[in-house]
Amino acid sequence: MTNLNEVRDNGRERVLSLRGISKNFGAVSALTNIDLDVHAGEVVALVGDNGAGKSTLVKILAGVHQPSSGSITFRGKPVTLDDPSTALGLGIATVFQDLALCENLDVVANIFLGRELNPLRLDEVSMEVKAWTLLNELSARILSVREPVASLSGGQRQTVAIARSLLLEPKLILLDEPTAALGVAQTAEVLDLIERVRDRGLGVIMVSHNMEDVRAVADRIVVLRLGRNNGVFAPDASNQELVSAITGAADNSVSRRASRRQTQGGQVQDQQTHRPEVRR
Ligand SMILES: Nc1ncnc2c1ncn2[C@@H]1O[C@H](COP(=O)(O)OP(=O)(O)O)[C@@H](O)[C@H]1O
Ligand SMILES: [Mg+2]
Repeated sequence: MTNLNEVRDNGRERVLSLRGISKNFGAVSALTNIDLDVHAGEVVALVGDNGAGKSTLVKILAGVHQPSSGSITFRGKPVTLDDPSTALGLGIATVFQDLALCENLDVVANIFLGRELNPLRLDEVSMEVKAWTLLNELSARILSVREPVASLSGGQRQTVAIARSLLLEPKLILLDEPTAALGVAQTAEVLDLIERVRDRGLGVIMVSHNMEDVRAVADRIVVLRLGRNNGVFAPDASNQELVSAITGAADNSVSRRASRRQTQGGQVQDQQTHRPEVRR
């Protein structure tokens, strides 16, 4: 179906556009005046320190919280995300950090949880076929879809949760800390998976505090600080630039370390007795 309201930037569909989004919880301003755009086939990393407002923003997009002010445009149309089913129905899928999987159920049951193809007479065969199709499209490393989720690795669980979120063919997928609990190999697996989701033409918002993961997969990095926009960066931004935007300080322990190592690396001299002055 063609979308007559479609807005394009440099040839790419603008899937989501937030303007002036604020959210107050009583006297607490969790978000102030947030602008954010996400395009089809783009991974936007949302980064920021604890309390920066990342989860609040994800919950607003998932329809869990309503903004106090501001506008949300989805696929060219102004929308109100009253509740999670409205967001999902429009094509915004969310994988929350806790994944919300049922340990004792198998992969197929988890992918179809609450959305069984035929609620009156479950069609196990078509559900299994659809589950395999989804997982194959994602080149997921899952050997049996009849395995209970309890026996899967953290990376495989994240894969199941992402496959589940793709079932309703969303246009935008929100991932809250998808690699937070994972080891190196599983992280790589999930980052590959995120790239495949992007290659399907979805917009992806990935919340993360791991700069390495963010740089590996993001097309743009959006920094929030104290509930406000604090810069948009390309993935080749330096650690120093990102940390400064995240913490709001040009001078911090991370930038001091980086600058010290740079200075030391560039000078051959007795570093035991003479420490080169730190460049700011
Ligand atoms: N339900 C809530 N009630 C009151 N304050 C909240 C609520 N959710 C978040 N906050 C506050 O909003 C701010 C942003 O929080 P959050 O979005 O969780 O940040 P992040 O995910 O970036 O760590 C924090 O000051 C937090 O205490
Ligand atoms: Mg959070």
